[in-house]
Amino acid sequence: MAPIVEVSNLTKTYKGGFQALGGVNLEIEEGEILALLGPNGAGKTTLISTICGIVTPTAGSVRVGGHDTITDYRAARSLIGLVPQELTLEPFETVMNTVRLSRGLFGKPKDDAHIEKVLRQLSLWDKKDNKIMMLSGGMKRRVLIAKALSHEPRVLFLDEPTAGVDVELRRDMWDVVEELRKTGVTIILTTHYIEEAEAIADRVGVIAKGEILLVQDKAELMAQMGQKQLQIDIATPVSTLPVSLVDRGLTVEESGTRLIYTYDTRAERTGITALLNDLQAENIQMTDLSTTQSSLEEIFVGLVKESA
Ligand SMILES: Nc1ncnc2c1ncn2[C@@H]1O[C@H](COP(=O)(O)OP(=O)(O)OP(=O)(O)O)[C@@H](O)[C@H]1O
Ligand SMILES: [Mg+2]
Repeated sequence: MAPIVEVSNLTKTYKGGFQALGGVNLEIEEGEILALLGPNGAGKTTLISTICGIVTPTAGSVRVGGHDTITDYRAARSLIGLVPQELTLEPFETVMNTVRLSRGLFGKPKDDAHIEKVLRQLSLWDKKDNKIMMLSGGMKRRVLIAKALSHEPRVLFLDEPTAGVDVELRRDMWDVVEELRKTGVTIILTTHYIEEAEAIADRVGVIAKGEILLVQDKAELMAQMGQKQLQIDIATPVSTLPVSLVDRGLTVEESGTRLIYTYDTRAERTGITALLNDLQAENIQMTDLSTTQSSLEEIFVGLVKESA
């Protein structure tokens, strides 16, 4: 199946000469959740805005559902829902009317049954007659999502859906995203919270200085790039290690009661078996063993640093 979004060699140079996107290529499969991870100013909003046709590209092209976003703008745009980074709502309007109006702007016929479905899905139905100004920040963000879903898009862009939101609301938002995915909507979200990408994305794209450094299946990314550490707790503290163990790269922590062995999960041999044999030969008695994997955070920081 063709990707729902195809971005080819997309470049954006703003007036004044600043290049915010430098030849981005990206394909997004229908039904997936893609998280675009990048530091401030990386070009995340520019990329999303260009895909949505709000910002005109300097070069390159974007197709959504096979429609070119420039030559076939209306068809492409009607497939897209966008939740912008900034809150933009009419304070005196009611929730219901705000979402209705949004649907109207896309030239879709009135369909209050659909609006009701969307508002219920976002737990906003009991607030439908409230004025926007009476809502909390988290609810306003949900209204923005409801607006973006009002015209039944197939692709939903969420630009930093949880920026400045407390931990509980953030988890709430993750649940909302998960619910939306079940309806078959493709979701692209930007974030600089690594744990957010880790929690909800199928694939993670890392963007820095207007370039996509990588796009990869989240689990694969973590498995491939991750180093693992084996922690070995020992019965009798050691102050220095026997030479045979130092040679294996073992280090001592926790005032001599814990040994740490770092290994590469991609390596053909991890060296663990040999290490355990050596420990036995040295008469070091183990009380516990555990492994930890380097997090997406470490991978991300490493990648962005490399590109700097
Ligand atoms: N209208 C504009 N004119 C000139 N430069 C711009 C404009 N909009 C954005 N930029 C610049 O382009 C770069 C990318 O901005 P963008 O908003 O896409 O980053 P971002 O990754 O979304 O950042 P953040 O995480 O802070 O939202 C920045 O250096 C920004 O200053
Ligand atoms: Mg942004």
